[in-house]
Amino acid sequence: MSAQSEVRTLYTRQEIASTINRLAYEIRRDYQNRHPLLVGILKGSFVFMADLVRMLDFPLEVEFIRLSSYHRSSQTTGNVRIVHDLSATVKDRDVLVIEDIVDTGLTTGFLMEYLQKRKPASLKLCAMTDKPARRQMPIKIDYLGFTVPNKFIVGYGLDYDEKFRNLADICVLEVGG
Ligand code: IMP
Ligand code: MG
Repeated sequence: MSAQSEVRTLYTRQEIASTINRLAYEIRRDYQNRHPLLVGILKGSFVFMADLVRMLDFPLEVEFIRLSSYHRSSQTTGNVRIVHDLSATVKDRDVLVIEDIVDTGLTTGFLMEYLQKRKPASLKLCAMTDKPARRQMPIKIDYLGFTVPNKFIVGYGLDYDEKFRNLADICVLEVGG
């Protein structure tokens, strides 16, 4: 089976571009005089982050954090670990977390709690996609790109077994083709 036949486009690159325009407008409105710290969660947010920051025409900083999660959908508690921490100081900064997808919410919930303990001036969340069907922990998404169905999503940074991150569209991975 070829890579093309396994994936079905859910949101095209054009739809993504116009959604990023909208998100950038909302973020610019709220942050343009605040020199925010944007914190991307690796690896999945790297494409979204790159496109988003180029639409933000005001001073900001970019940081990345890498988490690893060992939870399975059948479990109710996450086991999240920091693999690569931030180098910037979070205290008194306006922090905006940039996430690829909020699924169970356990990863994002862990990170928001972790960052809150470092006493930022403010802490908000921008997620490219939200899969509410699988939520196990309530998460407030302040800036949302797309709501996605309860399917496995790949492309635009999202992977399946490290593959498909480079697809320009947001796609559904069809199990069994
Ligand atoms: P959580 O279940 O909300 O903790 O999501 C944990 C991580 O799993 C996300 O940050 C993604 O990296 C990954 N993930 C969850 N759902 C999907 C999906 O549909 N496609 C690709 N990665 C996913
Ligand atoms: Mg992720």
